[in-house]
Amino acid sequence: MVSALYPGSFDPVTRGHLDLVERALPLFDHLTVAVAVNSQKSSTFTADERVAMLQEVLPKDSRVSVTAFRGLVVDFCQKQGIGAILRGVRTVSDFEYEYQMALTNRHLMPSIETVFVMPSVQYSYVSSSLIREIVRNGGDVASFLPPPVERRLRERLRPATSS
Ligand code: COA
Repeated sequence: MVSALYPGSFDPVTRGHLDLVERALPLFDHLTVAVAVNSQKSSTFTADERVAMLQEVLPKDSRVSVTAFRGLVVDFCQKQGIGAILRGVRTVSDFEYEYQMALTNRHLMPSIETVFVMPSVQYSYVSSSLIREIVRNGGDVASFLPPPVERRLRERLRPATSS
């Protein structure tokens, strides 16, 4: 049984992440999508909220599960008996960061392999922070976010009404 962990911030999950999951599913027997808690980034949604949104929009498939984790990704993989880390590479600028992370993870835990998958081209330039910025400024993000996620993001980023 080949299991993979797809770690990330998912703040929030986008259609680009979902596209990656769809592409990776045929490669693995099980895929765990894992929200990283304690990352250096400050987040718009709590880890529980991010997990809940993922559960809502990921394919209803017994091969997919969602969780949150703290600490090193390789330690979490080892504890869960997961042998591969899934990451997306969107652009050349992603490559350097992903390369560094994959080799560091290999140094820490040589038995765990990182597998890269390319997302569809229409999602290759978006990121959660760009989407948050568009929403803050009233722009259209329907092509980047599933409807329940867009709704929650608009609620969360709604400007406070002035008194
Ligand atoms: N479609 C759309 N957007 C995508 C995407 C895709 N397929 N893949 C990535 N992105 C975007 C994300 O939305 C995110 O955007 P943002 O920076 O604007 O929020 C950005 O790309 C980075 O994505 P993410 O995959 O969430 O990576 P990250 O750098 O935030 O987190 C972890 C990387 C969580 C995997 C890493 O920090 C980690 O493993 N942490 C645990 C601690 C650890 O083990 N550290 C040692 C690592 S060597």
